[in-house]
Amino acid sequence: MSRIYIFTGKGGVGKTSVAAAHAVLSSGEGKRTLLVSTDMAHNLGDVFERKLGKEPVRQQENLDLYEIDPNYVMEQDFRDILSCIGKMLPDSSGKNMEDFGMVPGMEELFSLLKIADIWDSGVYERIIVDCAPTGETLSLLKFPELLSWYMEKLFPLGKVAMRVLSPVSKRLFQLELPNRQAMSDIERMYLKLIRLQELLKDRNTTSIRLVAMPEKMVVEETKRNYMYMNLYNFNVDGLYINRVIPENIGNPFFDEWLNIQKKYIAQLKESFAELPVCCIPWYEEEVRGVKAVERICEDALSGKEVFRSAIQGGREQFEQVEDGYILTVFMPNAQKEDLEVYQTETDVAIRLGNYKRNIPLPNTLKSYLITSARLEEGKLRLSFRQESDAGTQ
Ligand SMILES: Nc1ncnc2c1ncn2[C@@H]1O[C@H](COP(=O)(O)OP(=O)(O)OP(=O)(O)O)[C@@H](O)[C@H]1O
Ligand SMILES: [Mg+2]
Repeated sequence: MSRIYIFTGKGGVGKTSVAAAHAVLSSGEGKRTLLVSTDMAHNLGDVFERKLGKEPVRQQENLDLYEIDPNYVMEQDFRDILSCIGKMLPDSSGKNMEDFGMVPGMEELFSLLKIADIWDSGVYERIIVDCAPTGETLSLLKFPELLSWYMEKLFPLGKVAMRVLSPVSKRLFQLELPNRQAMSDIERMYLKLIRLQELLKDRNTTSIRLVAMPEKMVVEETKRNYMYMNLYNFNVDGLYINRVIPENIGNPFFDEWLNIQKKYIAQLKESFAELPVCCIPWYEEEVRGVKAVERICEDALSGKEVFRSAIQGGREQFEQVEDGYILTVFMPNAQKEDLEVYQTETDVAIRLGNYKRNIPLPNTLKSYLITSARLEEGKLRLSFRQESDAGTQ
């Protein structure tokens, strides 16, 4: 089955270079590979020193390069969705397509839909995604969930949509769509979003890889990024520390820098203890051209099974206990004071710093109340009890 690898991290840390190295390595292993960029400020063309078009182009055997133009794919592939969104937006009769760019995250959503379609096509065994810097990637990844959540609240969705929610198996619901014609546009779009979410969160399909550098600001942002990615239950399964000064550099100017870097590398390894960590040396020149990209492969990636997902099993789960249920959410590096939890009729809402996620409650838990919330060892545990029992506490 084909796999998606998404590279994210702070601006300028080396996402594009590291993603490119994975793509070259992968094609060398004989896997049909696509290196695709969703960053509006594309620079795959710079790295491979060539001009890229609006469609994937062949770089070498088993490797295609593709800089997605969301406006182009929107017009080309997703006109129906576009008109559906047009109908949903207030004060718009769907005529003014240009306005969609105004909704944050909307354009990039089409890049993700395109990637999902490419994944479906089965043409590639590995799809390697080079993203825009952290914040944008996070809003991009959480957008399908957010939008489908709003749609659920705003529109009374038919039975078909509801059926999808319970078995949560894409194989299953693909089979269950013969009456597609009957579905309204909105339901179709909703299903597409749910499916996209599933694909991005499916640990058997998608890996999120963090790229960092050993310096204070980057370490801090990488920790936050990891925390938020986990809040949304994305499968982060690797960390790359780029621009590590070689030990034997033999220049006293770097003596102190070597110590500083060591300190931050140690911090990163501690904060990301459960992830495989891969260090990439700082080179004397920019990473440009296939040779430079191959150098990263040889020095840092070869022989390391970087395409394997080391993290097994889901991290967010509801489990039944003697007196009710417990929801566990993995939240590495989270601080109590940044965390707020509350329950609505249909969801548990978790606010962490600037981000809020709504986790829909399974039907069984609709009559349950949260009775305690504990944050321990990077895990948030919420206990639920039957409303009647909870009231007698
Ligand atoms: N290990 C390295 N040694 C030397 N130069 C590097 C290394 N890694 C990346 N660079 C250079 O640093 C610059 C930024 O790298 P890159 O474009 O890969 O980062 P990015 O995270 O994708 O940036 P952006 O956030 O702008 O997309 C580029 O000029 C690249 O050639
Ligand atoms: Mg980049």
